[in-house]
Amino acid sequence: RTVAVVLAGGTGTRLGLGIPKQLLKIAGKPIIEHTLAVFEAAPEIDEIIVLMATGHVEDARQIVEKAGLRKVTKVIEGGETRNATTRIALDAVGPADCNILFHDAVRPLLSGRIVRECVNALWTYDAVDVAIPSADTIIQVDDNDCITDIPVRSRLRRGQTPQAFRSPTIRAAYRIAEGDPNFAATDDCGVVLRYLPGTPIKVIDGSDENIKVTHPVDVHLADKLFQLAAAQAPRLTDHRSYTEELTGRTIVVFGG
Ligand code: CTP
Repeated sequence: RTVAVVLAGGTGTRLGLGIPKQLLKIAGKPIIEHTLAVFEAAPEIDEIIVLMATGHVEDARQIVEKAGLRKVTKVIEGGETRNATTRIALDAVGPADCNILFHDAVRPLLSGRIVRECVNALWTYDAVDVAIPSADTIIQVDDNDCITDIPVRSRLRRGQTPQAFRSPTIRAAYRIAEGDPNFAATDDCGVVLRYLPGTPIKVIDGSDENIKVTHPVDVHLADKLFQLAAAQAPRLTDHRSYTEELTGRTIVVFGG
């Protein structure tokens, strides 16, 4: 059994809308509805669990019901931090061994191709991340904003989601993390890396379109990407994302 956990427990302070950004409508639908629709349509996914921001669980339930998303089995409240939300999700998934994909609700341009490759990689690996190369040079700075290091760019990737795990692995990592008073992490592969060192974490290719709606400019970007997808939809016959088919054209549009 493969479960998709959609993490929507945040409030979107950087976007500053006054409502959680996952409820913002882009291309006629709330962001989270686009995200859920990808998992609903993915043949590899058996079940979807949604972790929603405090005070908005009912909003999420209504979206699920209205959209007729039949794979969604639970819509419950998330935690104070993203990792706290992951812990709640692990309880909600139940004790039976399964595959779990954790995905940011605010990455609505996820493709079926990425979901498929994550699930396939779990045949071989206990933990899987999704990432893309960095076009920018990444620099490391100290407290005074002075450079301390410039790592070799070809070795760097920008992490996206989903992050996928065999359930015993992610549970074991979080169990050990619970005993660490200094626990701090912003993602789930980081928890495995830190608390189960030596576990290979396979990285599969993400996509430029799989953006995390974080800052106001991302709303415009996502809107444009959905427009492009809709324009191309009739032409495509396989599970690949419409926007991935469009990479060349996308660049032209944003450049102009
Ligand atoms: N998330 C979560 N539970 C939290 C915090 C974040 O499930 N307590 C989720 C968000 O809803 C989002 C994903 O983790 O789908 C990525 O987090 P981020 O972009 O940082 O979202 P927010 O925390 O909402 O944004 P901000 O940091 O600007 O407040």
